[in-house]
Amino acid sequence: MPSIRFVATDERIEGVEQVTEYLNTQGIVYEYWDISKLPLELQEDYKVTPELQEAILNTFRPEIDALSEKHGYKSSDIVVLSDQTPNLEDLLTKFKDEHHHTEDEVRFIVDGEAIFTLKGPKDDTYYDVILYPGDLISVPTNTRHWFTLTDLRKVKAIRIFESKDGWVAVYDESELQKQA
Ligand SMILES: [Fe+2]
Repeated sequence: MPSIRFVATDERIEGVEQVTEYLNTQGIVYEYWDISKLPLELQEDYKVTPELQEAILNTFRPEIDALSEKHGYKSSDIVVLSDQTPNLEDLLTKFKDEHHHTEDEVRFIVDGEAIFTLKGPKDDTYYDVILYPGDLISVPTNTRHWFTLTDLRKVKAIRIFESKDGWVAVYDESELQKQA
């Protein structure tokens, strides 16, 4: 069950319906996809072979295609982070720096847990979106955010891209103002 935690107040919003409603007011796409249709061994295996990636992506092909059609996404792959990931600490340090992208950052959680901390577009309110298997978020283009893991320290996710090139982290917020 996804949840939101406001950084300043620790106030929380929980549940698919409530989280969807809040994120929609912020212009953020959230969807819940039925994770139970994925065989457990495909969910839990963190060795990402081409066969395993294909099997996961094929399971969610209808959802990926529908979302892609709506938002112009063009490709997808699987990403894993866990204690088996070389340089996990270095990667997490990098992901924790506030940044934005010049395309949407789309993630569907297959296994594990993830936290996107987002900066509200209007009032600079920071809030964590805590995601579990079945949760999909699309962090919109130019939304300042950072990413981290929960204490579980692992996540397996589908990434969906507008183009491979666009998904580059821009750490400098003044770059955002130049684009605006
Ligand atoms: Fe990002």
